[in-house]
Amino acid sequence: MAKLLLSALLICISAIWVVAAADVPVGGRGGCQTRCGNLDIPFPFGIGDQCAIHGGFGLECKNDSGTYRTFIGSFEVTKISVPDAKAWMKTGISWQCYDPAIKQMNDSMVWQNFTDTPYRFSYTDNKIFVIGCNTMAYMTSDSYVIGCLSTCSDEPKNGSCSGAGCCSVDVPPDLGYVEAYFNKDYNTSRIWSYSRCGYLVVMEKAAFSYSTTYIPSINFWNVYNGTVPAVMDWVIRRETCDEAKTNMSSYACVSDKSECLNSTNGQGYRCKCSKGFDGNPYIKDGCIDINECLDNTTYPCIGLCQNTMGSYVCSCHQGQHKVEGVCVPDQKNQKSAWEMPVVGASVGFVILVIMATCSYLIHERRKLQHIKQKYFKLHGGLLLFQEMNSNERKSFTIFSEAELQQATNKFDKNQILGHGGHGTVYKGLLKDSTEIAVKKCMTMDEQHKKEFGKEMLILSQINHVSIVKLLGCCLEVQVPMLVYEFIPNGTLSNLIHGNHGQNISLVTRLRIAYESAEALAYLHSYASPPIIHGDVKSSNILLDTNFMAKVSDFGASILAPIDKPQLVTLVQGTWELLTRKNVFNLDAPENEKSLSIRFLSAMKENKLENILDDQISNNENMEFLEEVADLAKQCLAMCGEDRPSMKEVAEKLDRLIKVMQHPWAQQNPEELESLLGESSYVISSGVSSTGNFSIEKKVVKDLESGR
Ligand SMILES: *[C@@H]1O[C@H](CO)[C@@H](O)[C@H](O)[C@H]1NC(C)=O
Ligand SMILES: *[C@@H]1O[C@H](CO)[C@@H](O)[C@H](O)[C@H]1NC(C)=O
Ligand SMILES: *[C@@H]1O[C@H](CO)[C@@H](O)[C@H](O)[C@H]1NC(C)=O
Ligand SMILES: *[C@@H]1O[C@H](CO)[C@@H](O)[C@H](O)[C@H]1NC(C)=O
Ligand SMILES: *[C@@H]1O[C@H](CO)[C@@H](O)[C@H](O)[C@H]1NC(C)=O
Ligand SMILES: *[C@@H]1O[C@H](CO)[C@@H](O)[C@H](O)[C@H]1NC(C)=O
Ligand SMILES: *[C@@H]1O[C@H](CO)[C@@H](O)[C@H](O)[C@H]1NC(C)=O
Ligand SMILES: *[C@@H]1O[C@H](CO)[C@@H](O)[C@H](O)[C@H]1NC(C)=O
Ligand SMILES: *[C@@H]1O[C@H](CO)[C@@H](O)[C@H](O)[C@H]1NC(C)=O
Repeated sequence: MAKLLLSALLICISAIWVVAAADVPVGGRGGCQTRCGNLDIPFPFGIGDQCAIHGGFGLECKNDSGTYRTFIGSFEVTKISVPDAKAWMKTGISWQCYDPAIKQMNDSMVWQNFTDTPYRFSYTDNKIFVIGCNTMAYMTSDSYVIGCLSTCSDEPKNGSCSGAGCCSVDVPPDLGYVEAYFNKDYNTSRIWSYSRCGYLVVMEKAAFSYSTTYIPSINFWNVYNGTVPAVMDWVIRRETCDEAKTNMSSYACVSDKSECLNSTNGQGYRCKCSKGFDGNPYIKDGCIDINECLDNTTYPCIGLCQNTMGSYVCSCHQGQHKVEGVCVPDQKNQKSAWEMPVVGASVGFVILVIMATCSYLIHERRKLQHIKQKYFKLHGGLLLFQEMNSNERKSFTIFSEAELQQATNKFDKNQILGHGGHGTVYKGLLKDSTEIAVKKCMTMDEQHKKEFGKEMLILSQINHVSIVKLLGCCLEVQVPMLVYEFIPNGTLSNLIHGNHGQNISLVTRLRIAYESAEALAYLHSYASPPIIHGDVKSSNILLDTNFMAKVSDFGASILAPIDKPQLVTLVQGTWELLTRKNVFNLDAPENEKSLSIRFLSAMKENKLENILDDQISNNENMEFLEEVADLAKQCLAMCGEDRPSMKEVAEKLDRLIKVMQHPWAQQNPEELESLLGESSYVISSGVSSTGNFSIEKKVVKDLESGR
């Protein structure tokens, strides 16, 4: 077994890059070689570290018996793009082959470590490919293990890489370290006569195409001659634009008319010429004005084209003027204007000013209208509008921006009800004196913009007593606004943590938990794919005048994807209800910061009563509390399949409430069981010999099943 340590040389450049990160950039490249063989070497790259911006960009030009090749560490560089901040490098192929002579698998694993260099595998241009007829290979990195299985049980097809003879996976962002690994259970010891090897490569998507000629798999190696091209994104330094600008002597965007860009592939910045300019932003005066008039395909101009700094003007030839973008000859009738008396001229002037002002205003208004329409269309407004008209769904309204501005007193600070995770909620009053809550979001995920109308349509049909009704939305603004019914009694968070010290009975608390769970179960089963709330927390559960729970903000989940597992947050909400303590207490000692951890350890030590709210923890309630705690624990199971569904959670809470509310609950479990007439949990308590409080749970037979 051999392990190709291709990174050995890279370690050298990484050391230089770290040290040299403080170097002053070379303004020009006086005396530096700008070509190696057929390859142009643009700054910030250079042959030799002294010609580069710093060691990370220092290249080596090697004379390979008359052909010159460029290397960075041990990797050959075949192409460099400054505008795109990419470099193409040849990287190794990892392989595993059956060796019939020794009747064993032999392999060679490529190991590449770009961690401390400016380079990262481009996740847009590269893919991980596994080739073979019985090969399972992975790429491991600092925080990833990614791979796939390729077999020839289905017939491989030219140009297809979806499991038959070839499989592929996406490259994750910020990938600087890769190491290949083959699963030894998949080997070619039985099929070596027709397919002896398996391969893994991380390479440029565009340069790969599967061919059935790779089935005698050694051909794959031969076609690429042992190395494959990979596209690397590079950055000047691993700091943000803002950080880079704090030290102008090392800031790399030195050209006038250049800008700084944060990298989208790991931390770091790079430079770019401003719009209308082209060239090398890393060199003083490197960004040069584009003469748009020389390229009438990219910059179309019918008529007279005139280049300006950073832009161009397209006008008509003399004696012509523009009508709807086309130059037409002038009509020659201006002569009489010169003969007008002075009074006439000044009146004319006044009229002219008025007309100009009017036309300007009309123009601006049209522009605004245009922008509004653009957003309306962008957010799927047309579809929504159509659907609503056809189905006569009168309960959902598309509000105009003006209507909402009026309702909220121009989004006055005094109207603010609260600040949510990704927006602000204002109280508003419509003309028909309906009270509303308007959610104004800060940003919206690009992906969701187009589907917004469709999603609104689904959400608008949701009608559940425990879910805050979505009354409508406003689409003609950059980020759509949501309009909900107004719920008067504040949030659950307020009720629990507010200062009013109001007594809240356990039944009320469980009822609130039950109603919330019901609402979520409804959402989960309402549509396919299910509507996931994504941000269940006490400040998102509102209370109406009768303290009935109403889950709010479910629409917001589609605006910004949230990765918080929601069951966990609901569980935390339940604990919050029982303990009246904050979910996170940042002042507490390390292991007590999280309420969930405190709760779990209290459960383990059978000291639940220590953590519970005094108002509800008494001996009669204890068994119910333990039961709820147990339910909460189930919800925390790591594996989704072990967790109860929201429906089961709701059902269980409902049963608990029914049992609790019954006057005989404590004394006579047997009779209770027959009273309820349905399958129910009956809990009886006792004191064990050790004196610890213990719970005995019996799932009582289902009465519906005949007994
Ligand atoms: C700014 O950069 C220069 C040149 O790279 C370096 O010598 C200096 O220490 C840096 N200053 C700060 C405050 O980091
Ligand atoms: C490059 O190598 C060739 C053949 O090995 C040799 O003739 C030539 O002089 C070398 N060029 C330089 C610049 O060293
Ligand atoms: C495995 O392959 C490597 C390199 O290709 C070779 O040097 C080595 O001898 C091979 N080992 C065996 C046991 O065949
Ligand atoms: C990769 O290189 C960096 C620094 O050069 C080093 O800290 C890190 O441990 C290396 N990673 C592995 C897995 O060798
Ligand atoms: C796939 O393409 C290669 C040539 O690139 C050809 O030799 C082979 O027959 C093709 N395979 C199929 C199944 O068409
Ligand atoms: C190939 O894999 C099988 C299991 O799938 C294993 O039993 C066998 O030892 C492997 N052969 C070699 C040469 O590694
Ligand atoms: C393949 O690579 C070897 C060395 O790695 C080189 O000598 C040979 O010329 C290459 N062949 C082709 C066809 O590129
Ligand atoms: C770069 O990223 C930082 C932090 O992520 C951000 O504050 C800054 O505005 C960004 N700058 C540019 C030019 O995008
Ligand atoms: C673009 O320029 C070429 C040559 O200057 C000219 O022949 C052509 O008509 C122009 N095309 C347009 C659309 O103006």
